[in-house]
Amino acid sequence: MRQRVIPLLASTTKRRQNSEGCCETKARGLAVLNSPQLNKGTAFTSEERNALGLNGLLPSDVGTLESQVTRAYIQYDRLPDALSKNIFLSTLHDRNEVLFFRLFSEHLREMIPIVNDLTVGLAIEQYHHECRRPRGVYLSIDHAGAIEDAFSSVGPGDIDLIVATDGEQVLGIGDWGVGAIEVSIGKLAIYTAAAGIDPARVIPVMLDAGTNRESLLNDPTYIGNRHARIRGERYEAFIDTYVKVVTRLFPHALLQWEDFAPGNGRRILETYRDRICIFNDDMQGTGAITLAAAISAVRVCGTPLRNQRVVVFGAGTAGIGIADRICHTMVTEGLSREDASRRFWCVDRQGLLTTDMAGQLRDHQVTYARPTAESKAWKHGAANEVDLAEVVHRVKPTMLIGASTVAGGFTEAVVKEMAAHTERPIIFALSNPSSRAEATPTDLIAWTGGRALIATGSPSGPVTHKGVTYVIGQVNNAMLYPGLALGAIVSGASRISSGMFAAAASAVSSLVAIRQPGASLLPHIDDLRSVSATVAAAVAEAAVAEGLARVKFDDIIQQVQDAMWQPEYRRIQAA
Ligand code: NAI
Repeated sequence: MRQRVIPLLASTTKRRQNSEGCCETKARGLAVLNSPQLNKGTAFTSEERNALGLNGLLPSDVGTLESQVTRAYIQYDRLPDALSKNIFLSTLHDRNEVLFFRLFSEHLREMIPIVNDLTVGLAIEQYHHECRRPRGVYLSIDHAGAIEDAFSSVGPGDIDLIVATDGEQVLGIGDWGVGAIEVSIGKLAIYTAAAGIDPARVIPVMLDAGTNRESLLNDPTYIGNRHARIRGERYEAFIDTYVKVVTRLFPHALLQWEDFAPGNGRRILETYRDRICIFNDDMQGTGAITLAAAISAVRVCGTPLRNQRVVVFGAGTAGIGIADRICHTMVTEGLSREDASRRFWCVDRQGLLTTDMAGQLRDHQVTYARPTAESKAWKHGAANEVDLAEVVHRVKPTMLIGASTVAGGFTEAVVKEMAAHTERPIIFALSNPSSRAEATPTDLIAWTGGRALIATGSPSGPVTHKGVTYVIGQVNNAMLYPGLALGAIVSGASRISSGMFAAAASAVSSLVAIRQPGASLLPHIDDLRSVSATVAAAVAEAAVAEGLARVKFDDIIQQVQDAMWQPEYRRIQAA
C-alpha cells in the first residue's frame, strides 16, 4: 500500500488509498467534513455516514457528484464578477477537492482565466485582506534554515510537482509579495484539472524574499516579510537551499518556477536545468506553445521553419523565449546555431536591436542583435532607431511575432508590406489582454485578403471573409505545460530537455486539421484533457529516446491514461 501525502492536513485526516481505490481515515464527524480531501458533502453514502460519525451532520438525502456539480455551477454562474467567481472557486477548493476539480475540469475554457491569468492578480491584490485558509508552504528568506522543517510538516512521501514563486513579477500587477502564493495554487489547480496531476502529490510554495511595493510595506494588514527584496548572494543562497532541500526530500519532483523577475528566473533556469528536473513556464512554456502554432503554420504554407525570416516585435521575456524555441528547432532542422539566430530580427523600444547597442541590451537579447553594418543605410528615426515598418520593408519577413504590449503595433501599412512579399504571412499578435494586442484577427484577415496565418494571445471569435470562416487559435500556455509535466512525471524524467519541448509542440500541432481552409493553428481549449494526454505521451517518448526516463514503458499511452487522477469520489472507510 502506498502512503500518499496530503499537504497541510492534520495527521488524523491523512488519506490512504488501498488497492481497491478506497480511502481510509481515522478522522470522524466534523473533522471529515472539514477535510477538503475527504469531504463529499451530501454525497456521503449511508454506510459512510455510519462509519465516519456523520449522522446528524448532513441533510438526510444522499446526493451525487453530478448533482453537486450542477448546483455549484448555478451558484458560480450567478456571481457578478471575475473576482467573486475566483473567491467562490477557491473556497470550494478548500471545502471539497473532488467537487472543485470536477467542476473545473468540466468548464476549463471558462474557468482557467478565473483561476489563473489576470483574475488571479485581482485575488492576489486582495490576499492579505481576504486571508482565507492557508494552502501550501511559505518559506522566508529570514529563516532559510527552517526550510527543511517547513516541508517536514507536509510529511514524508512522494511528491510529483512543486510550483514555487517569489511573487516579483505577477502577470499584470508586478511585485505582490506573499499573496503571490495564489499564483502557485492556481497553476497547480490547472495541472490537475487539465492533465490529471494528482492533487495529493503537489505543493504550492511561496519563497518570500520581501517586497519592493511600498503600499504593502506600509499596510498594517500585510502578512509577508515586511522589508525590501533581498538581492544578491543572500537571495541566491536562499534559492539554493530550497533546491537542495526539495530535491533531497522529493527526488522525483518536477520543480516549476513561476512569476520570477526575468533576471532571477533566467539565472535559476540556467543554473539548474542541466542538473535537475525544472521548468519555467514564463520563459519556456510560451516559447513551446508558440512553436506549436508555428509548426502548424509551416505545415500549411509548406516552407520549413529553417527557411523562415522572423521579426519579433517586443524582445522581452515572451518574445525572446519564443525566438529561442524556434531558433532551436531550426538547428534541429540542420542550420548551425549562428545561421539560425541570423534568421531573427528583434525590434524593441529602441528599434531594431543591433550589436552596437551592447550596453543597452539585456543578456537574453544579445544573441539576436544584428550586425550594425546591415542597417546602416536603412531609414533611421529621430532617436536614430530603425522602426518596425522599416525592418519589415527591408527584411521581408515571413513570420511576424508581437509580444510588445503595444496595441495596434502591427499597422495596416506594416501588414500589407509584409503580405506583398509572402504568400502566407504568419502573424502572431500575442500581447494580452486583447486591448493591448498588436492587431485584431479581423484586420489581419482583411488586410491580407485572408492569406494571413494567425494566432493571438487572448481568445478571439471566428472571422468570416469571402465565404471562409477563419478559426483563430489562442496561444495559451495551458495547452502545453500540463501535458509536459504529466509526461515528465510519468516517465520519471531526470530533466526537461529541448527535445521534450519540441515533442510537446509537435504533439499539440499534430491535433490540428490544417487541410481545412480557415482551420485554427492550435487545438481548442475545450479539448484540453485529451491534448494534455497526447502531449504527455510524446514528452515521455522523447524522455525515453534521450535516456532521461527513469521508468520503463510497455505501453506509453495506457500508462499516461492510468496516471491521470480523476475527479471522482472514492469510497471512504474508517481506519
Ligand atoms: P516583457 O515586459 O518582458 O516584454 C515586453 C517587451 O516589449 C519589452 O522588452 C519592452 O521593452 C518591449 N516594448 C515595449 N514597448 C515597445 C515598443 N513601443 N516597441 C517595441 N517594443 C516595446 O513582457 P512579456 O512577459 O514578454 O509579455 C509581453 C506580452 O506578451 C504581454 O502582453 C503578455 O501578456 C503577452 N504574453 C502572451 C503569452 C501568450 O499568448 N501565451 C505568454 C506570455 C506573454
